Amino acid sequence: MRSDIFIDVLGLGCLAVDEILLSPIWPEPDTKTRLLARDRQGGGLTGNAMVAAARFGAKVAYGGSLGVDDDSRFLRDLYLKEGINLTHCRSHPQFRPIRSTIVIDKSQNTRTIWFDLPGHLGASEDWPPAELITQSKVLFVDHYGMEGMIRAAKIARASGVEVVSDFERDEHPRFEEILPLVDHLILSNKFATKRTGLQNPRDAVEALAKFGAKVTIVTNGELGAWVVGEGSCFSIPAYPVTVVDSTGCGDAFHGVYAACLAKGLGLFDRLKFATAAAALKAKHLGAQRGLPTRQEVETFLGFWDFF
Ligand SMILES: Nc1ncnc2c1ncn2[C@@H]1O[C@H](COP(=O)(O)OP(=O)(O)OP(=O)(O)O)[C@@H](O)[C@H]1O
Ligand SMILES: [Mg+2]
Repeated sequence: MRSDIFIDVLGLGCLAVDEILLSPIWPEPDTKTRLLARDRQGGGLTGNAMVAAARFGAKVAYGGSLGVDDDSRFLRDLYLKEGINLTHCRSHPQFRPIRSTIVIDKSQNTRTIWFDLPGHLGASEDWPPAELITQSKVLFVDHYGMEGMIRAAKIARASGVEVVSDFERDEHPRFEEILPLVDHLILSNKFATKRTGLQNPRDAVEALAKFGAKVTIVTNGELGAWVVGEGSCFSIPAYPVTVVDSTGCGDAFHGVYAACLAKGLGLFDRLKFATAAAALKAKHLGAQRGLPTRQEVETFLGFWDFF
């Protein structure tokens, strides 16, 4: 174990501010609907994963950039309250988080997301300093700022830092370059299907494992996940919970998996804690409010032994 490491999980990618509207129905056009609840929370693949990891007890840092607008200020305050290290987060007027409006239709348990990208977001090719990456145990990458992500993943790989990824889009011309740089490739079934053309998550995870990650996982909502790792291919169930909102369950899974990896936990424990944290998240509205602490995950797991 290296003695200079001080960050468990380093994030560089997508941050968002989510406006969440809980609606009793999906309305007809030109009608008025009284909302059941409205909330404003942090969001985004990397933002959610970082908060999930921090609540689980990991030392988390953000090494990307934020702007000087209201949404950036909102996120800075939020991350500092979560204990996320922003020492290496740059401030630049061109950068802004995504702003999302998420409508949850309670009658059909659907979530519909509108978002805009008002400014630059994600990793940069000249930031963060290589030493920050090499002093982390886990680098978390997504598809925002692909050139910067490829640079960071190469630095991480060259110095033995584990690379955990979440991708939802592959349109970037250099996307192919990042896949072989990932040690723990964790994708939703929707993206895995798009990427491989295979509907069945077992087939998709086996196809994706050919990129050479140590562990490849395809998550599939309440149906659980398929895993290729340590020489076998197997499925893991999701924990049954009363679902309020499944937004961000995948991000919770990624963040807690990354936190457990940084703490040196084996594959079985990483999957168990990530799956339980994701299920607990589903009991709450929004991507971040319901992210559990490690204590809450352990208490929940005390009731279950089917894993
Ligand atoms: N309704 C649910 N009940 C229990 N666990 C769930 C539920 N939905 C998701 N999970 C857990 O979370 C994991 C990831 O969920 P999912 O596949 O929906 O991620 P996702 O589509 O990437 O979500 P998001 O992008 O909103 O974070 C699943 O493998 C499962 O363990
Ligand atoms: Mg996802």
